[in-house]
This record gives sequence, structure tokens and C-alpha cells, in this order.
Amino acid sequence: MKILGIETSCDETAAAVVEDGRKLLGETVASQIETHAKFGGVVPEVASRQHVQSITAVVEDAMNKSGVAFDDLDAIAVTCGPGLLGALLVGVSAAKGYSLATGLPLVPVHHIAGHVAASFVGTDMALPVLALVVSGGHTELLVVNESFEFHKLGGTKDDAAGEAYDKVARIIGLSYPGGPKVDELAEKGNPEAYRFPRALMDEDTYDFSFSGLKSAVANELVKQNRRQEEVVPADVCASFQQAVVDVLVEKTARAAAETGLNQVVVAGGVAANQGLRRGLKAKGDEQGFRVYFPPVRLCTDNAAMIAAAGYFLASQGRFADLYLNAYAALSLEDWQRMYRSGMFANGM
Ligand code: KG4
Ligand code: ZN
Repeated sequence: MKILGIETSCDETAAAVVEDGRKLLGETVASQIETHAKFGGVVPEVASRQHVQSITAVVEDAMNKSGVAFDDLDAIAVTCGPGLLGALLVGVSAAKGYSLATGLPLVPVHHIAGHVAASFVGTDMALPVLALVVSGGHTELLVVNESFEFHKLGGTKDDAAGEAYDKVARIIGLSYPGGPKVDELAEKGNPEAYRFPRALMDEDTYDFSFSGLKSAVANELVKQNRRQEEVVPADVCASFQQAVVDVLVEKTARAAAETGLNQVVVAGGVAANQGLRRGLKAKGDEQGFRVYFPPVRLCTDNAAMIAAAGYFLASQGRFADLYLNAYAALSLEDWQRMYRSGMFANGM
């Protein structure tokens, strides 16, 4: 089954063709980072306009690179939420246009389900899996069953893991997005220089909390400054990262043991983190679960992940009609409910 995926939820206009959710045939990502950099952040209205300007060329380029024609495709998958509404609408409208012109069915994909599906590309892994989603907006442990249905075990009560990375980066004076820079510095520091808190780690819950950790880092720096001690940023980064990784690894390992799932996929921007990769791999080897990380290129927003998710949905006949809309604040639960209730396929 060959699926064209389209993703426009934020500041990347992306299209890709993936076969059977695993084989990437061709992809294109047009990033708007340079356009938004001069405003210091993503400007929603500017993002929508850029998507409009790029979308047709991006889809054509992805189709050319994959060497397939529309006749060879089985469906068109598109991110329908969550994200910037104007940006999402460009992708959804384009997908509807292609669907109307070709007769191909539409598959609405939740952005986080896409991030999870990225781990399948280039592997022969099969469902079910345990998924750890760690991005700038999400920290969640999810069971993904044979039917690509998501059951949430727990999530963050305050800051997301990536958000904590970005805030700590700002505290020590690194520019946004600071996650990769903290990761890099952490490699050169001593993870035992400070003992930062591991919130909820030993409690009987799959929920997370990272805002106390961020405050502990800030307080430590204030204390050191007051004592006129020299702050070693690499040690702060390494100790902070160790606290985050300890909690993520412990909870994921416990969830794997409790659910009996022996395949763990890690999704979202923080999946690129070197400490997390090492920590989870070591724990998996010890406890007997296998960890799959998407290639670093597919950790950030792309359309291959949307096409891959589209495969798991389309192979079960989960489609939408041409009334498909975009939803800025769509939860995984609501997205699944819309499929279950027939809302996607009933002109709503
Ligand atoms: O999934 P993503 O690209 O965007 C969304 O949040 O949807 O994730 C971005 C987040 C940012 O907070 C960024 O700082 C973090 O992922 N990140 C990292 C690393 N690379 C990106 N955090 C820690 N270590 C990294 N290597
Ligand atoms: Zn994303």
C-alpha cells in the first residue's frame, strides 16, 4: 500500500510517499525557519501564507522523488491536528483537492500518532508497541495496540520534557531551541556534580513533572552566584539531563514490564537526545525490551511519519470524507473518538 502524506501543522511544509508504513520512497520538507527567524518565533499568519505558496511544489517534488504517479497510490494521509489552525487548513485543503481530483481516499492523522509512526520507517517492526512521546509540547507514555489505537498510561502534569530543556537552556544563557545545546554540553560535564530532584520517580504513577526540576536548577545557579562560585554550565547540563533521563527511563521500563510489551518506540524532538538514547538502550538490554528511535531526521516534523501512520489507519479502512476539517487543539482521545463515532466519514 503506497500512501502520500502531507504535513503543514507548524512551520514545515512537507510531503512524502511511504510504502506499507515502512519503506520511504521519497520526501520533501520545505522549512520556514529562515522566514520566521527575523520575527523571533513562528508567526501563524506568515506560516499559512508560506504553506500556500509551497504546498503544490512540495507535493510534486515528493511524488517525483518517489517515482510514483497518483494512479499508483492507495490513499492520501494528512495531519488534521493539533497545530496552527491556518497552517493545518492548507494541508487539509490540499489533501482534499488531490482526493477530489484523483478519487483517492483521505486519511486524517493526529500529529502525535505521526511522530509515533516515524519509528516504523526503515524497520520491520509490527504493532503493538509502548510509545514514549517526548517533545516541546508533550511527555506521554502510550500503549499502541494492534489496531493503531492509543491508550494513555500517563503524561506530564506541568512542563513537557522538551520545554524543561528549553527553559534550563535559557536559564544558563543558551539560545532557543536549547534542547540540542544542553544535550551537547551535557556530554562534557559531570552528571553527579549536582543532585537535582527526580519528581514522581518512585511513585506508583506514569505521570511526570518537570517544573520543580527546572526551578531547582534556577535556584542552584542563584545560590552559586550569591556565593560567587564559578558555574560550570556543562556540569549543570549533565546533572539536569541525568535527572530527566533517570525519570523517563524508570517509568518507561516499569510500563514495559507491567504491560508485557517488549518493543518501545520513542518519538518527538527529545528522541534525538543522546543521554536518553543511551539510558533507554542500556535499560532495554538489561530488562529485555527493544528500543526503536526514529532516524534523527524523522524526529522533527516531516510527512513520512504522516504517511506511515496513514498506512496503519488505511489498512483498517479508517478514512474521512471531503467534509474533513482541521482542529487546532485535537487530543489523541478526541481524534480516536471521531473515527469510532463515524464523524470523519459522515459529513461533519
Ligand atoms: O517534536 P518537536 O520537534 O516539536 C514539537 O514540540 O512539536 O520537539 C522540539 C523539542 C524542543 O523543546 C527541543 O529543545 C527538543 O525537542 N529537543 C531536544 C533535543 N533535540 C530537540 N531536547 C533534548 N535533547 C536534544 N538533542
Ligand atoms: Zn511535531
